[in-house]
Amino acid sequence: MSRLIYILNGPNLNLLGKRQPQIYGHETLADVEAECRKAAAGHGLEVRFHQSNREYEIIDWIHEARESAAGIVINPAAFTHTSVAILDALNTFDPPVIEVHISQVHKREAFRHHSYVSHRADAVMAGFGTQGYLLAIERLARLINTAK
Ligand code: DQA
Repeated sequence: MSRLIYILNGPNLNLLGKRQPQIYGHETLADVEAECRKAAAGHGLEVRFHQSNREYEIIDWIHEARESAAGIVINPAAFTHTSVAILDALNTFDPPVIEVHISQVHKREAFRHHSYVSHRADAVMAGFGTQGYLLAIERLARLINTAK
């Protein structure tokens, strides 16, 4: 069975660390990537880590993941609240999907309370800061190992 997981990040997350640090913290996306790689390696998982500000690139990576991946961790960022296309792409992917939000979206503006991606996600992490990615990897590893 595949030991590869995709970690996908949506728009503006390239500015992590500089962007509204009072909400998203001071860690950069490169810091998050390094921590994710370390956590995944601890579970014997290989990582493809991507960020894009373009919806179609995220969709293309989900299609790529269909061919090879054992799971996806996705922070769709603002596309969470707008993108039926990302939901449709995730619905073509059978292995586990975990949705991550750094901030506690339900404590924020009403437009952040609805997630298209949650219609597909097997679990949702919100408000754990960047630690949410690591918790998502831990859960994904459990799901992958028990699916063997
Ligand atoms: C986010 C929450 C979204 O509402 C927002 O648009 C983001 C980041 C988070 O990680 O908390 O860009 O997904």
